[in-house]
Amino acid sequence: MNIFENKTVVISGGAEGIGLAVARALGKRGMNIVIADIDATQLSVAEAELAGAGIPVLATTLDVADLSQWKRVAEQSIERFGKVHMVVNNAGVGGKGGTIEETDSSTWQWVIDVNLMGVVYGTQVMVPLMKSHGEGGWVVNVASMAGFGPLPLATPYTATKAAVVAMTENWAQELAPEGIHACVLCPGFTQTRINLSERNKHDRYTNNESGDESKSASSLNSTLKKVVETGMPSGVVAERLIEALEAKELYVFTHPSYRPLVNVRFNATAVAFDNAIQSPLLANYKDLMLPSFN
Ligand SMILES: NC(=O)c1ccc[n+]([C@@H]2O[C@H](COP(=O)([O-])OP(=O)(O)OC[C@H]3O[C@@H](n4cnc5c(N)ncnc54)[C@H](O)[C@@H]3O)[C@@H](O)[C@H]2O)c1
Repeated sequence: MNIFENKTVVISGGAEGIGLAVARALGKRGMNIVIADIDATQLSVAEAELAGAGIPVLATTLDVADLSQWKRVAEQSIERFGKVHMVVNNAGVGGKGGTIEETDSSTWQWVIDVNLMGVVYGTQVMVPLMKSHGEGGWVVNVASMAGFGPLPLATPYTATKAAVVAMTENWAQELAPEGIHACVLCPGFTQTRINLSERNKHDRYTNNESGDESKSASSLNSTLKKVVETGMPSGVVAERLIEALEAKELYVFTHPSYRPLVNVRFNATAVAFDNAIQSPLLANYKDLMLPSFN
């Protein structure tokens, strides 16, 4: 028996893209699948596909930015499958490329609500269900390589993805004693419709922007379209996640070629420490106690 068999996973944004690919991969390994998504039409298509493959599936609508909807999804999952063992906080939106001035507060709010609060709510609601049965479980947060390095002009996206990496690092420590493994999936560009995220933007995020897209934003958006369309197939990302869950990895990377991008920050961090060590201002503070919170 594999570690997933007969267990139950709730996948936000599971109607298409990486979420649906993860649903297929886990369903193939005997998991009960709950796909929850804001897009009811795509949800029915995905439900029919999974059910047709003999996978036990519950499809339900969810706006991840709404805590009360998460609670309803939890109740439906328990009613249908009895227990929840895994949450995949996958739903995410790309936002809209733009400079500081071009990125209005409704865009910020939308991306923060979905990419950040969606992950917070999903974890807050599903973790108590995992603790209640004592069989352990998994919290899988989908961030991005953009959580580890800059993607200029996509600032709400990179900010929220960096936050998801940071939250997962904390939760991994907090949940380990409960037998719950937390990890953060950080794909590079993958063939999905992420570059068309505005298709599912809720009306409450009214668009106050005026005027045409700037040249820089428009060039970013067309580059993003190209790199997403020629990116990694979502099925490969999903299978890589399975491999990483079996190995209990914390940071789940899928694009080995992105290493130089991440190294920019780590190399710069080393230089920043060297600068601080050499600063005469700090000469008397070199041995301050390193805090430990374990
Ligand atoms: N595709 C990439 O290149 C890439 C790279 C790195 C990370 N990611 C991340 O992968 C995750 C999945 O994205 P994807 O690439 O499959 O994109 P996608 O647009 O194909 O799928 C996203 C899914 O989330 C759903 N969704 C959007 N807003 C929602 C909301 N408020 N509540 C519930 N569901 C909502 C959509 O309906 C859709 O089914 C995202 O978190 C994204 O940031 C994607």
